[in-house]
Amino acid sequence: MTDSSTELKFAPEALSLAPQTFMQQVKETSTFVIFGASGDLTHRKLIPALYNLACAKMLPESFHVVGFAVTPMDDERFREEMRKAVQQSKEATDFRESVWNEFAQGLHYITADFEAPEGYENLKSLLKEIKKEHNVPDNRLYYLAIPPSFCRLVVEKLGAHDLVTPTARQGEGWTRIIVEKPFGRDLDSAQELNTHIHKVFQEEQIYRIDHYLGKETVQNLMAFRFANSIIEPIWNFRYVDHIQITAAETLGVEHRGIYYEEAGCLRDMFQNHLLQLLAIIGMDPPVRYGGMSVRDRKADVLRAIVPINPESLAEMAVRGQYGAGVFEGVSVPGYREEVGVHPKSNVETFVALKLFIDNWRWSEVPFYLRSGKRMHTKVTEIVIQFKRVPHMFFQLSQDDVMEPNQMIIRIAPDEGISLRFGAKVPGPSMRLRPVQMNFSYAETFNVQPTTAYETLLLDAMEGDATLFNRNDAVELAWEVLEPMLEIWSATRPFHPFPNYAAGTWGPNAADLLMQKDGRSWRNPPNAPLLSRVNLENGNSL
Ligand code: BG6
Repeated sequence: MTDSSTELKFAPEALSLAPQTFMQQVKETSTFVIFGASGDLTHRKLIPALYNLACAKMLPESFHVVGFAVTPMDDERFREEMRKAVQQSKEATDFRESVWNEFAQGLHYITADFEAPEGYENLKSLLKEIKKEHNVPDNRLYYLAIPPSFCRLVVEKLGAHDLVTPTARQGEGWTRIIVEKPFGRDLDSAQELNTHIHKVFQEEQIYRIDHYLGKETVQNLMAFRFANSIIEPIWNFRYVDHIQITAAETLGVEHRGIYYEEAGCLRDMFQNHLLQLLAIIGMDPPVRYGGMSVRDRKADVLRAIVPINPESLAEMAVRGQYGAGVFEGVSVPGYREEVGVHPKSNVETFVALKLFIDNWRWSEVPFYLRSGKRMHTKVTEIVIQFKRVPHMFFQLSQDDVMEPNQMIIRIAPDEGISLRFGAKVPGPSMRLRPVQMNFSYAETFNVQPTTAYETLLLDAMEGDATLFNRNDAVELAWEVLEPMLEIWSATRPFHPFPNYAAGTWGPNAADLLMQKDGRSWRNPPNAPLLSRVNLENGNSL
């Protein structure tokens, strides 16, 4: 192992801009109705994100939230619960009593069974009352924060109770619906769900959310690729050796054992987040930044993914499940010991996958994707590894380290972009070593990027669907994974589970997947992106 490479910093213009500068208050008022308002997502993400928007003065005037759920509560109790959620949230801005009090006045709650008609009729009356009392337009944004098994039912009921204004009657106010993942559990169920929702909502009213698309760095990927003339010419098979996409988590399944037993890593992370990242990395330039154009180009990429051949699945994909291990000096249980998990479960908590995109730009360039729970480091990043120079004419000594150029796009934590290249070491002889140029979001803009939900909720309120998934993208993603889902559910893993210890980088087979191609994963150390380049783990040239 050599020491870390030299870091060469950009001299960014430090822009001391508050986040408010980047986003503006939503002009048109709407009422936000959350189905599943007593659940985890509402507490952890939705209400803290709305509160953050309230602090930044970005919510529209007279903004109301209606919680709709089975847990019995009145408005006061709901407000109390939500106050606690915001106070406990790590993602919420510091608690400000005055902002909260104003925001909380707009919080309402309906205790209702999703099947029974009363809840929907109460909702209708409440929406009318809000409209009348506050003199606001009848715009509704429904959020389905409920298990997928309830989605069909709620959509059907919304239609049956005349709670959806058709797009043709836009003058009477709009209705939109945000649907959480997982969107179905395979291709058939996703198609069925799409057909079903389309009976009540038009495609343009449907916002299928993937919180990765709201992450600042993911959006910046498009800016980086298409607003800079030096990037696009090298973004193809001529210059790129391979691409890695890693979404590694250190947490286990926490309290979500029951959900995870049904989902597994493929459904939980690949069908949505990882394939969406791949689509943005791989897409051609859209005609304009807008829902139709961007989503067309992303769909092209998904459509061009070479179908996984069931016979060679073992050469293209690896599944894993964590066993007990040590994380940050503390012993942690294996997946099979988690609450809600079957003691002999064969559900995967880790997947590594090699894909190809069969088009002009990406001919023969492998895309290696991996994601897992209880891994060594929490990191989501994309690595673009470039080809070596055709002829290295420097007479390098054994001590010289020359690594291929690598561009690292760090999505979380420590958002930024870094480029590794070779440079001459000062001195009389010609010696080379890698150095790094870095761009850090936090340093350059002097702000921490917002959590993805703020961006996405604002977009939905404003009717901008660019960062939401269209029906074709969802179905195409399922299509890609379908052979794996089928084979893995019907067969036992080749190496019996658990096959990696908590706190590691996953099963050995995942390393072999790349090693047999003469490549290796970038396994970043715990340190931030900007302070080191990883020269361990065989990443050297
Ligand atoms: C969710 C998955 O969609 O994404 C979780 O259901 C996962 O299992 C989470 O932990 C990861 O999101 P992030 O933003 O922390 O990378």
